[in-house]
Amino acid sequence: MVKACIFDLDGVIVDTAHYHFLAWKRLANELGFNLTETDNERLKGVSRLQSLEIILELAGITLSDHEKELLANKKNTWFVDYVERMVPEEIFPGVRKLIQDLRSAGIKVALASSSKNAKTVIQLLHIQNDFDAVVDGTMIAHSKPDPEIFLLASTKLGIPPSECLVFEDAEAGVEAARAAGMKCVGIGSHDQLGKATKVIAKTGEFTVAELSRI
Ligand code: BG6
Ligand code: MG
Repeated sequence: MVKACIFDLDGVIVDTAHYHFLAWKRLANELGFNLTETDNERLKGVSRLQSLEIILELAGITLSDHEKELLANKKNTWFVDYVERMVPEEIFPGVRKLIQDLRSAGIKVALASSSKNAKTVIQLLHIQNDFDAVVDGTMIAHSKPDPEIFLLASTKLGIPPSECLVFEDAEAGVEAARAAGMKCVGIGSHDQLGKATKVIAKTGEFTVAELSRI
């Protein structure tokens, strides 16, 4: 019986996953290589620094911690530039209604994003008050695929993991949800997210009625 739904942010509620991709691609270009959409799948869900490590591995470059910090900051500045221009209309169709319907049905709703920019994004989208709990990248020691973020959300909601359902677009996120002992709806393609309990193309396709069938 599902009593709580936990939403990832980037790529689940809004297409900020694309802004992350554009910013990493720009950095990759500066480092002399082209970041493909396929390689980008590995960056989804993991922390900023872990994403950079993958970029450096793809580029075959070794850097000091200080140099890594400078590059991570540079990428974040570009990402924030995109994000600051966002408007509430960019929320994926049907998502705001889904969250409202869940809460009206007595289901707790949390946001669990590895991003340190998550609070800024939900404020810009005017949905900061739509969640019973918010957990972001500033509050965890280990990012997805570690289950920490989802377990923290479960604790904050007061709902045990077995009664939580996660919505995730990243392979690392699906793994984190399963490691936390939670069911998971994958948003995207079955090839990428086959470990999820169920896969749908878009978050807005999900309805409260489906909770009893999952
Ligand atoms: C996740 C994204 O939500 O947040 C990753 O899927 C991103 O692509 C990570 O790297 C960290 O985000 P930020 O905003 O802290 O750099
Ligand atoms: Mg995501």
